[in-house]
Amino acid sequence: MNASLPLHPRSHFPPDFVWGVATSAFQIEGAATWQGKGESIWDRFCRQPGAIADGSHGDVACDHLNRLDSDLDLIERLGVDAYRFSISWPRVQPDGRGAFNPQGMAFYERLVDGLLQRGIRPYLTLNHWDLPQSLQDSGGWAHRDTCYRFVQYARHMAQALGDRVAAITTHNEPWVMAVLGHESGVFAPGVRNRGTAMQVAHHLLVSHGLALQELRADGCKSRLGIVLNLSPIVPATASEADAAAARLEDGRSVRWYLDPLLRGEYPEDVWHHLGTDAPCVEHGDMELIATPMDFLGVNYYTRSVVSANGSWNAKEHGGPLTDMGWEIVPQGLTQLLRRLQRDWSLPPLYVMENGAAFRDSLQDGRVHDGNRVEYLSSHIDAVGRAIAQGVPVAGYMVWSLLDNFEWASGYAKRFGLVHVDYDSLARTPKDSFHWYRGFLDGQKAQRKLHVGAMA
Ligand code: FCB
Repeated sequence: MNASLPLHPRSHFPPDFVWGVATSAFQIEGAATWQGKGESIWDRFCRQPGAIADGSHGDVACDHLNRLDSDLDLIERLGVDAYRFSISWPRVQPDGRGAFNPQGMAFYERLVDGLLQRGIRPYLTLNHWDLPQSLQDSGGWAHRDTCYRFVQYARHMAQALGDRVAAITTHNEPWVMAVLGHESGVFAPGVRNRGTAMQVAHHLLVSHGLALQELRADGCKSRLGIVLNLSPIVPATASEADAAAARLEDGRSVRWYLDPLLRGEYPEDVWHHLGTDAPCVEHGDMELIATPMDFLGVNYYTRSVVSANGSWNAKEHGGPLTDMGWEIVPQGLTQLLRRLQRDWSLPPLYVMENGAAFRDSLQDGRVHDGNRVEYLSSHIDAVGRAIAQGVPVAGYMVWSLLDNFEWASGYAKRFGLVHVDYDSLARTPKDSFHWYRGFLDGQKAQRKLHVGAMA
C-alpha cells in the first residue's frame, strides 16, 4: 500500500473514546544496572544461552531512561489521548521487598508529570513481567508470599502516583507469565512444570484482587483493572477431536482467567483436566479474585487455531502473516469482543495492545510500512464494528510506540510506530506514525463537531 493513500477506518467512535499507544519498561528502558536498579528475572533470563533468538538483552534497549523528554515529545507529536507504560518493579524496589529506590521513583514521577504537562493521560501497569530476581530466588510467583510483596509495591506506587494516573493495571497477561514463563519455559524465569504454572496463575489473580482491595481502601482515585491476552480459539477442522482440543485451549487461556475474575470460579472442565496440577486455593481466594474491576484490558494480535495433534501451522494456510508468523485476522477481534460480552458481565473494555511486527526498512529517512497501516486500520475498524454491536469498548492502544526488545525474539521483530536504529538509537517515525496521527486528527475534528452539536 502507498502511504500517500491513507486507509481511514469507516467506523464511528464515541467522543470520549480513549486513543493511545503502549510500551513496557523492560522492552524500552535499558539502564539495567544504573541508579540503583535491581536485577529482574528478564535480566537473568537473557543471560541463559539460547534463551533469546539473537542473543540480546535489555541492558540498553531503546535507552528510554536517558531519552525520556524526547520520547515524551514523540508521544505528544503522535496526538494520542493516553500513554500506557509499565513500572520496572526492580527499578523502584530493587529487592522486591524493603527499601524503595528514590532515583527509580523520581524517574516515574518525571514520566507521569511529563505526560500530564503534554496533556496525555498516564495508564500505568504495575507488572509487565519483570519481577525482581531476588523474589524469584525465594520462589517467585509460585510462592504465595510474592502476592503480599506485590501488594506492598502496588500500594507504594499508588500512593506516589495514584493522584495523577488515569488507570492502574495490576498485571499484564497473566497467562504469558504463568504458561510461557513456567510451563513451556520459553519466557523468564524459564521453568517447565505445569503444576507450578497453574499455581503462578492463581497467585497472580489473588495478588490482583488483593491489590484492588488495598488500593481502594487507601483511597486510590485511579481506575483499577487487569490486562489479559485473549484470542478467539478456533478448531482446525470439524472433527470431534479438534473441537475438544479447542474447547480445552479456550478453557486454559480464556475462561481460566475470565471466569474467576468475573464470576469467582474456575472452569470445571479445566480443573478436572488439570488433575494434580490444579492450584492450591485458600479459603476466600475466589472472592478476592472476583473483586469488581473498573476496566478489563484486552490484548489482541491474532486468532488461535487448534488441532488435536498440534499439527496446524499458520504458514501452510496461505493467509497473510506478520513477521511473528501470526495470522492477520481483524475480524477475530470483533468476534472476540462480542463473545466477551455474550459470555460475561463486563466492566468497560480497553484494547490495551494491538499491532504488528513487519520487516521494515529505513530508506532515506523514511519507513514505508503500509502493511502496518493496513493492519492497524482494519483492526480499528474491527473495534468499531464491535462497538456498533453494543460491546462496551472505551479505548484502543497501539503496540508499540517504539521498536523494542521483543522478549525471546530479541530486537529482530519490529512493532513500533517509530523505527529505532539500535546502533545510534535514533528514532524515525514510520509512515504508520504519520497515518495514526492523521487518523487521530480526524477523530478530534469529529469530537469538536459533536461538542458543537451538543452546545
Ligand atoms: C504482548 C506483550 C507485549 C509485546 C506484544 C507483542 O504479549 O504484552 O509486551 O511483546 O505481545
